[in-house]
Amino acid sequence: LRFALKTNRYGEHDFTSLDVNRVIGGVINRKLRLQDLDPIVDLDNPDIQFIMRVINDKYMLTINLVGESLHVRGYRRYNHPAAIKTSIAAAMVLLSNWDNEDFIDPMAGGGTIPIEAALYKYRYAPGLYRKTHPIINIPVFSPELYYNYRENAEESKLDNLDINILYNDISRKYMDGAIINASSAGIDKFIQFLNFDARYLHKYHIPLREGFITVFNPPYGIRMTRDRAIPSLYRDVVNTLVNLGCKRIITITAAWRSMVDAFEYSNVKLVRRIQVKHGQLDTFILDGVIS
Ligand SMILES: C[S@@+](CC[C@H](N)C(=O)[O-])C[C@H]1O[C@@H](n2cnc3c(N)ncnc32)[C@H](O)[C@@H]1O
Repeated sequence: LRFALKTNRYGEHDFTSLDVNRVIGGVINRKLRLQDLDPIVDLDNPDIQFIMRVINDKYMLTINLVGESLHVRGYRRYNHPAAIKTSIAAAMVLLSNWDNEDFIDPMAGGGTIPIEAALYKYRYAPGLYRKTHPIINIPVFSPELYYNYRENAEESKLDNLDINILYNDISRKYMDGAIINASSAGIDKFIQFLNFDARYLHKYHIPLREGFITVFNPPYGIRMTRDRAIPSLYRDVVNTLVNLGCKRIITITAAWRSMVDAFEYSNVKLVRRIQVKHGQLDTFILDGVIS
């Protein structure tokens, strides 16, 4: 059994993380040997990863049961320069209480939000993109159980719902990247891809039925657009969505004051504001309802 031990240490100590690794690694080794598991240390490709957390005078030894961080879904082939984390995108979709309404992300970049929306609505378990799972190497778990869960997850996928899920972005290049990501997730057939300026969506025939849901992650004015353009961009996009018949908007931005102004301008009632650290940026998720 190949194992690795990683130590995360917080606080002041008269020993180092390497000291912890040496002592605890020795204990793990002895315990595994007692179970006849023939342990070998393998930091690059372990069957089991132990994680030791030393927090001031407390410690906790845990086993990594999930593998890589859960936001690493495994379907992203194209990397948009300002992509949102998949887990935050999924959380925003859930926050919208989306039922059987149509759905749009009008500024969707590499497609994370509409992809997570389609995965959720068509019951594609995001864990299915991982080829294997660390749990199958852990002696007390049965690999069959994991393979049964996988099979059940495969079987619960849906097809053919009467819902429009729309992707839109002004950039053709980003749209092509999003199509690559959606195909890699196997759900491109559930998303309609549009390539318009979101401020003028009302000028085209957009397949959105009255009462649709919007979830989006606009530019913040830090990396991609000049700051001065942000307030009017937000105002125009929100106004267009409301005029098209949107009933709820969930959005995430670091320029949240401009979004609050845009909501006010179009009579969108702000019902929730949730602070989220996105990378190094302080952002807010805003939840707005149109009555
Ligand atoms: C923060 S990024 C979205 C990233 C996306 N959530 C992802 O995970 O890849 C904002 C996007 O807004 C798009 N955008 C900027 N102005 C636009 C406009 N007027 N109409 C439509 N899209 C626009 C940009 O091309 C960019 O892809």
